[in-house]
Amino acid sequence: MNDPDDLVAFLGKAWQEMRRGVADARSPARHPTFATVSPSGVPEARTVALRRANEPDGEVEVHTDAATQKTEALRQWPRAALNIWIPGSHLQIRLTTTVKILTGAFVEREWDRVPVASRVSYGTTPDPGTPIQGAFAYEKPPVRERFAVLRCAIDHIDLVYLGQKHQRAAYVREDGWQGTWLAP
Ligand SMILES: Cc1cc2nc3c(=O)[nH]c(=O)nc-3n(C[C@H](O)[C@H](O)[C@H](O)COP(=O)(O)O)c2cc1C
Repeated sequence: MNDPDDLVAFLGKAWQEMRRGVADARSPARHPTFATVSPSGVPEARTVALRRANEPDGEVEVHTDAATQKTEALRQWPRAALNIWIPGSHLQIRLTTTVKILTGAFVEREWDRVPVASRVSYGTTPDPGTPIQGAFAYEKPPVRERFAVLRCAIDHIDLVYLGQKHQRAAYVREDGWQGTWLAP
């Protein structure tokens, strides 16, 4: 960033990194940690792949199997936090989001774009997380109906830059992402 006081450029850098994560499987932004709250109130975090980052709409998307525990959690409490650390840019991006679970006709185009070899990620039998008799006592058929897109509308963004002098800022949707510097 040229002007360290530029809140707009700071946010722009975060979006640039997220777009890179979608486009480039080797980018650290490709694999955010995705945290939800279980129906019994327990925090649950896991790695996911970032599939879309849309700055104008303030949205990111993740693909999942509709039978996973995260999807069950989101049905009860449709909020998720994403955390991304990009070592090369010294940047941490934290997103607080409200999530819509899209399936069926709403995600036909996305399903068509999932490589055939990857479609087995959606349809594991028994359901993901079910105890099984041995390590490989499961099947992975591709099941179109189990494919879900988690559309995460961002409510809040927290950025931390660990350069020589640390910088931190928060941005909220409700004021049009104007941003505020925070003590790091
Ligand atoms: C590198 C990596 C990428 C992953 N990407 C996804 C993903 O995009 N979507 C997903 O549902 N699970 C993904 N997983 C698996 C999840 O971390 C998790 O094990 C699985 O979704 C079940 O989580 P849950 O029971 O908490 O829902 C990925 C795991 C790793 C290690």
